[in-house]
Amino acid sequence: MLPDRTLDGRVAIITGGGTGIGRAIALEYARLGARLVLASRSPEHLEPAAEELRATFGAEVLTAPTDVRVPEQVERLCEETVRRFGSIDILVNNAAGNFFCPAEKLSPNGWQAVVNIVLNGTFYCSRAAGLRMIAGGRGGNILNLVATYAWTGGPGTIHSACAKAGVVCMTRTLAVEWAHHKIRVNAIAPGPVETEGAGSKLWATPEVRSAMLKTVPRGRIGIPEEIAQASAYLVSDFADFITGEVLVMDGGQWLGKGMFGEGNR
Ligand code: HXC
Repeated sequence: MLPDRTLDGRVAIITGGGTGIGRAIALEYARLGARLVLASRSPEHLEPAAEELRATFGAEVLTAPTDVRVPEQVERLCEETVRRFGSIDILVNNAAGNFFCPAEKLSPNGWQAVVNIVLNGTFYCSRAAGLRMIAGGRGGNILNLVATYAWTGGPGTIHSACAKAGVVCMTRTLAVEWAHHKIRVNAIAPGPVETEGAGSKLWATPEVRSAMLKTVPRGRIGIPEEIAQASAYLVSDFADFITGEVLVMDGGQWLGKGMFGEGNR
């Protein structure tokens, strides 16, 4: 665990910050002394999370209903953040959209809905926050939440897999382009993580959950808090020499089970 004041006074925008992994990241950053801006398309998710941060850590929190697919709303989010807190030090691109659908049944609109949130939304937010980090001259950190099917391919989730692949590429591109502005850009690729949103969509029945668990060599589902702690490390000064990295946190899932039975315990 990082020391208490590791992110003292830093201003962090977290998209999708009201629920699941985003909420866990917000809680960890608040514990470490950050000031938080929670953005979500669903206003009803924002105030309860903000209240929890204030009550638990006395954190300063701004809530900003934002659809990351709409560049004007993203601009407003960043403008309000700077007006309220004076800077943007950290951006966590956590907002995502996903559903299972075989490629041949996926409508153009379904493709667009997910690609717009995951790929376009990540660019709009990175650009708007990055411009302000560059103007501020103090550097900053961008952290993207991706998935390992960005490089394995994702049967049943072609929209999300292709979009996450784009975000991995964006992570590495911006890491290099913005290094001289002291902006680091990294990503985390979580495997299955115990959140209401993912659980209800991705492993909705005990059978699916048990089949999914068999694909994780570590033999369990991840918890949001462990993703949050790693994310805090990556945006902290302790990780100052790390940029363009994608940290996989999936219990060995994407490495698979090996070719030979003896290895598959
Ligand atoms: C087929 C679907 C569908 C489904 C929506 N569509 N759900 N098609 N199967 N289950 C199609 C619709 O029919 C429509 O196309 C188009 O997608 C847009 O649908 P809307 O409902 O109007 O879109 P919208 O309200 O903008 O919702 C966006 C969404 C939704 C992505 C579709 O699921 C959403 O908001 N999700 C946010 C939360 C979420 O998904 N979180 C999970 C992230 S977990 P037509 O042609 O009919 O108009 C994650 C982790 C992955 O990403 C990694 C795991 C290891």
